[in-house]
Amino acid sequence: MTAIIVVGAQWGDEGKGKATDILGGHVDYVVKPNGGNNAGHTVVVGGEKYELKLLPAGVLSENATPVIGNGCVVNLEALFEEIDGLEARGADASRLRVSANAQLVAPYHQTIDKVTERFLGKRAIGTTGRGIGPTYADKVSRIGIRAQDLLDESILRQKVESALNQKNQMLVKLYNRKAIDPEEIVRYFMGFADRLAPMLIDAELVLNQALDEGKSVLMEGGQATMLDVDHGTYPFVTSSNPTAGGACVGSGIGPTKITSSLGIIKAYTTRVGAGPFPTELFDKWGEYLQTTGGEVGVNTGRKRRCGWYDSVIARYASRVNGFTDLFLTKLDVLTGIGEIPICVAYEVDGKRFDEMPMSQSDFHHAVPVYETMPAWDEDITGARTFADLPERAQDYINRLEELSGCRISYIGVGPGRDETIVRHDVLAGK
Ligand code: GDP
Ligand code: IMO
Ligand code: MG
Repeated sequence: MTAIIVVGAQWGDEGKGKATDILGGHVDYVVKPNGGNNAGHTVVVGGEKYELKLLPAGVLSENATPVIGNGCVVNLEALFEEIDGLEARGADASRLRVSANAQLVAPYHQTIDKVTERFLGKRAIGTTGRGIGPTYADKVSRIGIRAQDLLDESILRQKVESALNQKNQMLVKLYNRKAIDPEEIVRYFMGFADRLAPMLIDAELVLNQALDEGKSVLMEGGQATMLDVDHGTYPFVTSSNPTAGGACVGSGIGPTKITSSLGIIKAYTTRVGAGPFPTELFDKWGEYLQTTGGEVGVNTGRKRRCGWYDSVIARYASRVNGFTDLFLTKLDVLTGIGEIPICVAYEVDGKRFDEMPMSQSDFHHAVPVYETMPAWDEDITGARTFADLPERAQDYINRLEELSGCRISYIGVGPGRDETIVRHDVLAGK
């Protein structure tokens, strides 16, 4: 039995897609436990680039069954568009299964996402505009629509009517928009029912039975620790729990079954959207990381904000996710930059913080305390073992390991599937 959780350690886009792709070839199930089509996971196979949004990257692993878990929010239009797009490129998405308990994104969720952002003005979150927050809000308010509701049109109608009774008041009176006709929404959802029905499963049962039979499951988290609605930089977060505990809830796999919690972390830091970011760079180095690292959001095409590696965040993420291993990505991007600053602590109004400040205002005012290490000049993209790396790169990894509260088991030296150094294989449990 192997149950691995893949979690973003920073603000997303750390390379979870690539990590999943490497491991996905050796597991039976790849489950997406949280998020929706706000994610963008890139996988590069044999020079071909795939950008997965709603589908788990495991859809590209031939022997794995990809599953969209109960913790996800599913836009059915986006789901079938993505499946069709992949199949047009020769990939096989026919194994995809969807938890009957997954929540569905309705067109009104997207409208509300955009309108609420507008109302927030300069305090806007910078969401992806995909209706993610409003869909999760309805789930928690107990007026959400679930995938299984499409199996019974009259139940669906009742649920849509209940949701719109409240929403229409808000849309008309507060947001000055037109009321939505429930029948229009029922028609919208029922238009997908025949195609969705055969994909629905009791995911919690299927996954636990698989684990009991000695099979392996990988949970491919979307978003990241610092975007977690509880543990992230609230309110500049997404509306799910992308941390390891959330992966258990979002897949129905209990915490005692988890064999590895693998944190994916970049050798520097990026963030898309608004919110605090202590090591953010506004100088030529920020631009250097953005262009050399190709830091453009998969989902919205926005340039990612860039900064140095922040070991306060690494330690925090290691703690809240109980990381057993780290996968450090994009080491190759730091080649030839002379000196590499690493944030080891913060200073707030003259006071040093070695760990994440309790208060969000302190975090907003955190000034990084840096130490620097010399960079290497050799091309490292061909390195396949730790010993292949130049000494300075090895020293850098060793220092990050000391600072980050967890061993670094994988090192990414390029975007390709094979451009990876494996020091400890989480599949082998070593
Ligand atoms: P995710 O959302 O965590 O799956 O990450 P994204 O796919 O949004 O962004 C990560 C980007 O980095 C993608 O373009 C990957 O192809 C790329 N990438 C992943 N690992 C490496 C690496 O080790 N080196 C380089 N140069 N690129 C990488
Ligand atoms: P992956 O899985 C980076 C950010 C958005 C915004 C905030 C809330 O590719 O790492 P939302 O639409 O979720 O309500 O937006 O979260 N965000 C991401 N940033 N990578 C992601 O996913 C993200 N998903 C959401 O930019 O700041
Ligand atoms: Mg991404």
